[in-house]
Amino acid sequence: MKVNNENKIMEAIISLTKRRGFIFQGSEIYGGLAGTWDYGPLGVALKNNIRNIWWKRFVTNRDEMFGMDASILMNQNVWKATGHAQGFADPLVECTKCQHRFRADQLEDKSDSTNLPQVKCPDCGGALGKEKQFNMMFETHVGATQDETSLSYLRPETAQGMFVNFKNILDSQHPKLPFGMAQIGKAFRNEIAPRDFLFRSREFEQMEIEYFVNPQAWEDTFRNFVNEVHAFIKDIGLDSTKVYENEIGENDRAFYSKRTIDFEFDFPFGRKELYGLAYRTDYDLKKHSEYSKVDLSYYDEESKERFIPHCIEPSFGLDRTVLAVLCDAYREDQMGDEVRSYLKLAPSVAPFKVAVFPLLRNKPELVAKAEEIFKTLKKVIPEAVFDDNGNIGKRYRRQDEIGTPFCITIDFDTIEKNAGVTVRDRDSGKQERVAEIDLLNYLKEKIG
Ligand code: GAP
Repeated sequence: MKVNNENKIMEAIISLTKRRGFIFQGSEIYGGLAGTWDYGPLGVALKNNIRNIWWKRFVTNRDEMFGMDASILMNQNVWKATGHAQGFADPLVECTKCQHRFRADQLEDKSDSTNLPQVKCPDCGGALGKEKQFNMMFETHVGATQDETSLSYLRPETAQGMFVNFKNILDSQHPKLPFGMAQIGKAFRNEIAPRDFLFRSREFEQMEIEYFVNPQAWEDTFRNFVNEVHAFIKDIGLDSTKVYENEIGENDRAFYSKRTIDFEFDFPFGRKELYGLAYRTDYDLKKHSEYSKVDLSYYDEESKERFIPHCIEPSFGLDRTVLAVLCDAYREDQMGDEVRSYLKLAPSVAPFKVAVFPLLRNKPELVAKAEEIFKTLKKVIPEAVFDDNGNIGKRYRRQDEIGTPFCITIDFDTIEKNAGVTVRDRDSGKQERVAEIDLLNYLKEKIG
């Protein structure tokens, strides 16, 4: 019963995002490519709003953070140094009958009364073969020769692009500890079982920070970032009561981490990891120093000490954030005789902040006035949209579904009685009249 309901919500969200131009299946006209998704105009706007809020909070608003945009393709030795080439793997099992492949740790154990493990192929019920380790990095070759020496990988995390540029930041920016490097970019993982829409895909974006500290300061920095993660969650309007901190036990942490907190979110398909915060110690810099033979130590002028800084890493999935925001915002209610679906997006992330309509599209005086008001607003609120498609009811439904918080209608009273415009609130559907002269301030106050 519960599963059905969860499935229905996800189906409704996936259908809305396709219908309204947020997100499409990757390579759809060729039957798709599993684990890839394409963002349409509304999706790009939503994603960019989230990206910009993150960049502003973690980079622009801070003095000790350095932005980066490193290459996706990196020297294969990067991944040998970090251990990814040898061990970035998930457990894989293959069905001996239908040859379908699954992630062993995601299969349900249907133990019978004998209590012996009864894990069978979920597709055909056949017996499963032995568990193997499957490396999730996508391989490619750089240049015209295809041999071991030209081997490269699509990066599985953005993090290493920052560690390998640590010395460049030291030499060009001359920062003092503590300081951080931040970047937003694509990462690729050949997931055995991509699933749950954007949640686990094979190509996705990460927003990551590598924050370097004196080892004595790691605990304070870690605590500060816990607060900063929550502050960002608030910035994008996610319901904080659906976010949980999960302290990861020693046996379940990545081998390089001395402390990890996963920030989990109540998705319709269950409580799952949204972000991670890890204390990576000096593991990465030490390994890169060892493999590249380049000194990646830091000289502290005050203490006259030379050491390898330790690193705190907050790591955010951008597409997973888009998914959390969509799941959190999706609503259905009864409006008049209709069931309406809408996105209760925070104005900070909504693709459009305000829509402007003439009541009727075939009345030139209404259209001209609506265009005039729209042009004035757009100069100050660039994410304003003009809409005169279909009847007014349809326009409201469309704007509700794409999460536009306010709709402004220019009617006959606007022109004939100088009675201002109507402003409709997306969530309540209520309208109020606002004088033209007050409109901009009214909106600025509501939108923030
Ligand atoms: N540098 C650390 C790192 O990459 P991770 O926990 O493997 O850590 C960080 O990934 C974040 O990236 C996750 O919390 C999640 O938000 C996102 N992420 C990881 N794998 C993903 C996938 N297959 N699809 C979408 N997002 C993913």
